[in-house]
Amino acid sequence: SQNIFILGIESSCDDTAASVIHNGRILSNVVANQKIHEAYGGVVPELASRAHQQNIVPVVHQAIKEAGITKEDLNAVSFTRGPGLMGSLLVGTSFAKSLAYGLNIPLIDVNHMQAHILAHYIDEAGFKKPPFPFLAMTISGGHTQIVKVNHYFDMKVIGETIDDAVGEAFDKSGKILGLGYPAGPEIDKRSKLGNPKAFKFTKPKVDALNFSFSGLKTAILYFVQRETKANPNFVEENLNDICASIQHTIIGILIDKLKKASKETGIKHIAIGGGVSANSGIRQALKDGEQKFGWTTYIPKFEYTTDNAAMIAIVGYLKYLESDFSKQNVMASARLKI
Ligand code: KG4
Ligand code: ZN
Repeated sequence: SQNIFILGIESSCDDTAASVIHNGRILSNVVANQKIHEAYGGVVPELASRAHQQNIVPVVHQAIKEAGITKEDLNAVSFTRGPGLMGSLLVGTSFAKSLAYGLNIPLIDVNHMQAHILAHYIDEAGFKKPPFPFLAMTISGGHTQIVKVNHYFDMKVIGETIDDAVGEAFDKSGKILGLGYPAGPEIDKRSKLGNPKAFKFTKPKVDALNFSFSGLKTAILYFVQRETKANPNFVEENLNDICASIQHTIIGILIDKLKKASKETGIKHIAIGGGVSANSGIRQALKDGEQKFGWTTYIPKFEYTTDNAAMIAIVGYLKYLESDFSKQNVMASARLKI
């Protein structure tokens, strides 16, 4: 039987990550977060690529060590080619190329957005794998898409945001409320303590299966300005209710479009992926869809939601099985499409 070890490297944004997969099972999954961006309220590209340069050697070393193997055991090196920040992508790309060349093993390039979807094919006790075709909603700080997945590498985007990504909606709303960056996790936490119906924000009207989140951000800004004029302590006195109401609105927007996509395609296998799929409200809303709409849902294990290298390693493994290797002159691509 086969005995394949693949290293995955992820450096598309502000997390430096490495993972080793043995056949379909993850042996290690190491992520170094870059705290430096918090002070700026968002990712600073130049600082991100510098931090990747500092982190990549120790992170890869740690992933190989935790897997209990040596680098000579590796069968291939997979890495995120794009989409993402060019400076950040270049660090992972150059490192992966050198390592594969030095070890004389295949190099495999991976599309970050495909990886968020294909993370569902990691062998994980208690998690089922979606059968083809299925619908995947990728929700992150940079993307909001509904994708029809016909096969591993046969995907079609059938809906996407026309402006901000849903993660930006969380983060920009949080900024208006004075929360730290990224605000998604804190809005999630506070939502559990607040009333989701306390305040009402109108949902945008957007054609077909597309999304729009920039109007919501503006509505929240005007709402906060108006209420603060009447009561300067409005935000701090109502923070949990405001967070719960924002999250409730965002989840409503996402589920409405998923319902529409499911109806139009006749597909009832529904998966989510990307950082925002860590959100407890969207996870619950999806689960509720099983009863309400007859869906079978696929919700990633928490550590495979936000950026990680395990998802890069599983794609590396799937491509390895098809001998789909990259050339040494493969280039990072900031705007790589699914
Ligand atoms: O996939 P990801 O780690 O990076 C990108 O590729 O963008 O996603 C990061 C995004 C951020 O906007 C962050 O606020 C959001 O995911 N996020 C959450 C939660 N955890 C992370 N949003 C809502 N609720 C959460 N629990
Ligand atoms: Zn991502």
